[in-house]
Amino acid sequence: MAALLEEWADQMGVSDAERDRWLRAAWLHDALRETRLAANTTHGAAAADRAANDGETDRGVLDAVRYHSCGYARWDDVGKMLYLADALEPGRKPHRKERARLAERVPHDRDRVLRKIVAYEIRQRTRGGRPIDPLTTEFWNSLRRGST
Ligand SMILES: [Fe+2]
Repeated sequence: MAALLEEWADQMGVSDAERDRWLRAAWLHDALRETRLAANTTHGAAAADRAANDGETDRGVLDAVRYHSCGYARWDDVGKMLYLADALEPGRKPHRKERARLAERVPHDRDRVLRKIVAYEIRQRTRGGRPIDPLTTEFWNSLRRGST
């Protein structure tokens, strides 16, 4: 996940400070996932709480970690990049080639890739008869509004 974010940061030419935010979010997310202290649905919240306790004060970084599995309409770039990295990291098995292609598009076509992934998530959930988190719906709507 961090490797993917580093690659994107290089290709997108973001500042060192912004790159550092992306990597901090990835690190904070992974730190908790690996300890498996929390169930999947809440590990973002647990990781964000712990990061805040440990002194992380960047709201964008904390919100990125907190909402990475459902999406969040008020995210800045770090939230969107962490969400993309989580969805597109090469370690995941299903649709490996499709995800690699999408990952390559991120640096020059980020928002469209983002919409594609959120649409896919929503489709999968409705097909499976599962509920959609209102935060995900809000995130989707915010992406649609921003589109041309
Ligand atoms: Fe996660």
